[in-house]
Amino acid sequence: MLLFATWLLLLATSSEILAQNPPTDRSCGNDLSNLWLDVVVVVDNSIGMTQAGLTEVAAQIVTIFGGGTRIGTIAYSDKRTVRVGLVTYNNQATVQADLNRFQSADDLFNSVFQILPKLSASDEVYLAKGLDAAESVLSAGRKNATRSNYKQLVLIYASDYRDDGEEDPRPTAERMKSSGVSIATVAFDQTGNEGVVKAIGEIASPGFNFTNEDADLVREIQGAMIKTNCFCSSLWHQYRKEFGVDGSPKYGVCLKPVALTAAWAPAKLGCQNMIKSGYMVTEFDKQKHDFVFKLIQNDTSFPEPYVYHIGLSYVNGGYFWQQPVGHALVPFQLNDSLWNPGFPQQSSSNTAVLNQQAIATEISVGWQNTNQYTVPERYVCEVASCDTDTYCE
Ligand SMILES: *[C@@H]1O[C@H](CO)[C@@H](O)[C@H](O)[C@H]1NC(C)=O
Ligand SMILES: *[C@@H]1O[C@H](CO)[C@@H](O)[C@H](O)[C@H]1NC(C)=O
Ligand SMILES: *[C@@H]1O[C@H](CO)[C@@H](O)[C@H](O)[C@H]1NC(C)=O
Ligand SMILES: *[C@@H]1O[C@H](CO)[C@@H](O)[C@H](O)[C@H]1NC(C)=O
Repeated sequence: MLLFATWLLLLATSSEILAQNPPTDRSCGNDLSNLWLDVVVVVDNSIGMTQAGLTEVAAQIVTIFGGGTRIGTIAYSDKRTVRVGLVTYNNQATVQADLNRFQSADDLFNSVFQILPKLSASDEVYLAKGLDAAESVLSAGRKNATRSNYKQLVLIYASDYRDDGEEDPRPTAERMKSSGVSIATVAFDQTGNEGVVKAIGEIASPGFNFTNEDADLVREIQGAMIKTNCFCSSLWHQYRKEFGVDGSPKYGVCLKPVALTAAWAPAKLGCQNMIKSGYMVTEFDKQKHDFVFKLIQNDTSFPEPYVYHIGLSYVNGGYFWQQPVGHALVPFQLNDSLWNPGFPQQSSSNTAVLNQQAIATEISVGWQNTNQYTVPERYVCEVASCDTDTYCE
């Protein structure tokens, strides 16, 4: 008994140590060997690319997918696999491989070196044609809803760009991006034409515009695959550094505001039952608190004044954050305090925490402790994102 009390005392005085390592939100899973994606590589093989350039591209493509990634679908029981399609283009596009052709990394390795280093005789280069072909490869790969839960990425190597008339690639690029396809571009710049590099980059998804001069190009493209593979199921919102900014860095965390009111304890169960490994939202820091609040403000089913339960509660002498069932709760740190004035109130029955807009004229919310069985409010659930660590059906 005495030992236990000493231990508690130690725990209390170690809060300073804890404060140096505050809990943080989960990063996106980044294990290349567990990627699950459909990727179409689109390569300009016009004269401007040069024979040497095409050989470099072949070597790079093989390297990008060489991180232990499972290529194809046939040989694996694990569903985390990558299908790779290949399109070349100049004044027209050729589908060199649909999404089902390559069935292993070796197969990809050998085929890419056979297919790619063949320069076309054309010096014309219509990215629009390459993009259209990539779009049809992706849609053929989706027949009968095949792998409709997999994200799609188009990776383009382009030496030149034009946007006149029917050859403007931007409408196709916009259509693909708005239907959820990510686009990464590598401007293969042999001549130092900055205008061309910029124009090619402009059809890319935010942050996915690269050039062949980037020192860390393989890692950048692998990073684009990891980011594309990190997403939330429909009706869930991905936590990002900044709310409403498309290219803002993602966390491996998904959020869902729930408009149907419940007391804190049943709301907690609601989150756990809504989705596998779900739990009530954590607000480890002000950035997350502000993001969640912006999400709520943008949700018309949440009226003012804003009130919603969060996954913080008083358990055995301290405040703790919710986690997936089976994981230890995370101790709350005072540093991150976002309590409303006068809170937390000392009370043996008010052990649950909600966000409350304290002053109706001020658009902000702070924490208040309340009874966990009697105060029905809206709430917010959280779950890890779908990514290389987590396969989502
Ligand atoms: C798609 O479904 C149709 C009808 O159910 C079937 O005839 C066809 O073989 C399927 N195609 C593929 C590629 O599975
Ligand atoms: C990518 O786009 C950003 C934003 O438009 C720009 O600042 C950056 O220079 C571009 N990078 C390359 C390599 O073109
Ligand atoms: C805000 O809500 C609108 C309407 O539901 C939605 O279209 C939009 O995507 C939301 N904004 C963000 C950044 O989630
Ligand atoms: C916690 O608060 C202390 C004292 O205000 C400060 O020195 C320290 O940097 C804070 N730690 C974090 C992680 O914010």
